[in-house]
Amino acid sequence: MAQLWGGRFTKETDKMVYAFNASIRFDQRLLEQDIRGSKAHATMLAKCGLLTEEEKEQILTGLEGILSDVQAGSLEITDAYEDVHSFVEAVLTERIGEAGKRLHTGRSRNDQVALDMKLYTRDRIDETDGLLKELLEVLLRLMQENLTTYMPGFTHLQKAQPLTLAHHLGAYFEMFMRDRSRMQDIRKRMNLCPLGSGALAGTTYPLDREMTASLLDFDGPTGNSMDSVSDRDYLIEYLSALSMIMMHLSRFSEELILWNSNEYQFVEMDDTFSTGSSIMPQKKNPDIAELVRGKTGRVYGALMSLLTTMKGLPLAYNKDMQEDKEMAFDAMDTATMCLKLFTGMLDTITFKTDRMAKSAMMGFTNATDAADYLVMKGVPFRDAHSIIGKLVLTCIDLGCAIDDLTLDQLKEICPVFEEDVFDAISLETCVGKRLTKGAPGPAVMQKQIELYSAYLAK
Ligand code: ARG
Repeated sequence: MAQLWGGRFTKETDKMVYAFNASIRFDQRLLEQDIRGSKAHATMLAKCGLLTEEEKEQILTGLEGILSDVQAGSLEITDAYEDVHSFVEAVLTERIGEAGKRLHTGRSRNDQVALDMKLYTRDRIDETDGLLKELLEVLLRLMQENLTTYMPGFTHLQKAQPLTLAHHLGAYFEMFMRDRSRMQDIRKRMNLCPLGSGALAGTTYPLDREMTASLLDFDGPTGNSMDSVSDRDYLIEYLSALSMIMMHLSRFSEELILWNSNEYQFVEMDDTFSTGSSIMPQKKNPDIAELVRGKTGRVYGALMSLLTTMKGLPLAYNKDMQEDKEMAFDAMDTATMCLKLFTGMLDTITFKTDRMAKSAMMGFTNATDAADYLVMKGVPFRDAHSIIGKLVLTCIDLGCAIDDLTLDQLKEICPVFEEDVFDAISLETCVGKRLTKGAPGPAVMQKQIELYSAYLAK
């Protein structure tokens, strides 16, 4: 058991206590960040005269050796060390001797772990942003291909008004675009370096915090040493943004599952993204979409867990904060996998455009337009609404769509109808006339797609 704090103890830690307290099993994934932070700290210590040039060089070379040996598999991180910070310091000292013991000057594990977690989260934020961009690129292609692919739009899961697939996908484009801007917001707000805050009250050494901040690509050092070591806001914000992404992916998954069902048959998932049943030979199940929907709860769980962990903590660092890692890492890995798989699934999906258009034609999605037609001919809207309501009832009896009635049948219900009604309530017209900004009319949708395309090209 390699501990950094044996001096004031006269007895060995109980084995179960050691295991309960240790975090190496999960914080070893911070190795790269820990070493990056230590290199910056050592460089700064040397510049401030707290290490000699020679000691600094020994430390830098030693740290780089540890990282490359672990990556090559010749150095193993074992549970003989309490946490990743203890591991690095112990191995460094073992390898370079005296200079290794000087590395921790003016530093505490509290500001060290605060830094490691920030560096790690910042990298993951950039990764998430990149994955969102890839998803948006697939959405953009599908929108470009489906500008006039008609489909029913739903409210209450009941057919409402016709729109296009491009427009429906555009709704998700907006959501994932907001998710990206959340990544950028969080990154900007969190990008201050906690290193140099010490345990909680700064340090008496003349550290150059600006220097370490800039070596580690931060915008500057944090403003309060107590806040620095006890702040996990950025992680909560990131988990919250990941939860939002998962919520969006889950809604989208739910729709794809419905669309892939035998009743809808709007899409067919590619064989490479579907699974079968062990008993029912006919089955091709949308398991990937279902798992993305299912794993959403897990990411929400990590957010709730950390919020709850933090809510009762007095300033500054408390060991409770070690609990910021396991579930957060799991949430990050889960969201990453879900984004990658969802993008692959969407990229290979087949849209059955004929079925979608047929479905848009049935279910009276043009009833609003039929009423609008009468209004244009001078009928007050309330009367038009009731006339079309009766018309719909007739169609339900006859088992047909409004467009299937003859002009005579239409005139029987309302003499105002004329030959031009058929064009006025066709799918093309119903969708094509919806030209307000953000509406599905292909002419405005095309402009919107151009904006999306320019956004992605930036
Ligand atoms: N493993 C600890 C964590 O993850 C590192 C910080 C330990 N600090 C301390 N004062 N015990 O939070």
